[in-house]
Amino acid sequence: MARIIGCVTTSHVPAIGKAMAAQQQEAPYWKPFFDGFPPIRDWLARERPDAAVVIYNDHGLNFFLDKMPTFAIGAAERYVNADEGWGIPTLAPFAGDQDLSWQLIEHLIGADFDLTTCQEMLVDHAFTLPMKLLWPDGDAPPAVPLCINTVQFPLPSARRVWALGRAVGEAVRAWDSDKRVVVVGTGGLSHQLDGRRAGFINKDFDQRFMRSLVEQPDWATRYSIHELVELTGTQGVELLMWLAARAALGDQARLVHQHYHIPISNTAAGAMALAAA
Ligand code: DHB
Ligand code: FE
Repeated sequence: MARIIGCVTTSHVPAIGKAMAAQQQEAPYWKPFFDGFPPIRDWLARERPDAAVVIYNDHGLNFFLDKMPTFAIGAAERYVNADEGWGIPTLAPFAGDQDLSWQLIEHLIGADFDLTTCQEMLVDHAFTLPMKLLWPDGDAPPAVPLCINTVQFPLPSARRVWALGRAVGEAVRAWDSDKRVVVVGTGGLSHQLDGRRAGFINKDFDQRFMRSLVEQPDWATRYSIHELVELTGTQGVELLMWLAARAALGDQARLVHQHYHIPISNTAAGAMALAAA
């Protein structure tokens, strides 16, 4: 049966894409951010995952406000990036793992999650930049994108997202394959891009949340979406992706590495790698 090696969670600020394209990793503004990643890459190089489930939120590239699935999953052979208007150079298409897509689709729909299944799916910065950060040489394993709506209200509750992540874990472990799978969750941490609280960051909450993923991983499910928005900002609610990715590991996980740097653009930039116990 397939095995989950662990999860990696990271912020996905579009400016990271420009910084990587301009090779600014050592520039004073960027170095404290990029320094968080070599230990995570070393762990991935040792663990050699054969496939990645990438849990992220599309920001209007593939789904717009006219049609917004709560949960959507890719079942494509490859995933194309496109211009989102941020001025990030587009990246080459990413390979899909269609067997894993269908394993997840069968299992999750069987477990009462009403997924939208996508035979074609454009992937935005929230998918591409973490893949490039984690595998800068372009050798990312074939992936399955799994989208959770955090763009248009109403959003799924933290409790529901936690349950989805658990079911993703069960689906992978029930997969008749000898592949090693990493789950990637992208978004957060606290940030708000617009409105009266633009620039809002909550370091105390972010750090409590990061600790919870090791010590008490369903801790954040106690909060409603509105409470999470209040605590983390309108876009900080993207931390739901971290929650889903962590949930896939089951109860126990070992911290491999964590990093937190404020701010990158308007965002508290965090990253964690957790190994499945
Ligand atoms: C920023 C952060 C995001 O998560 C995003 O999707 C877009 C922009 C930012 O801080 O600039
Ligand atoms: Fe975002």
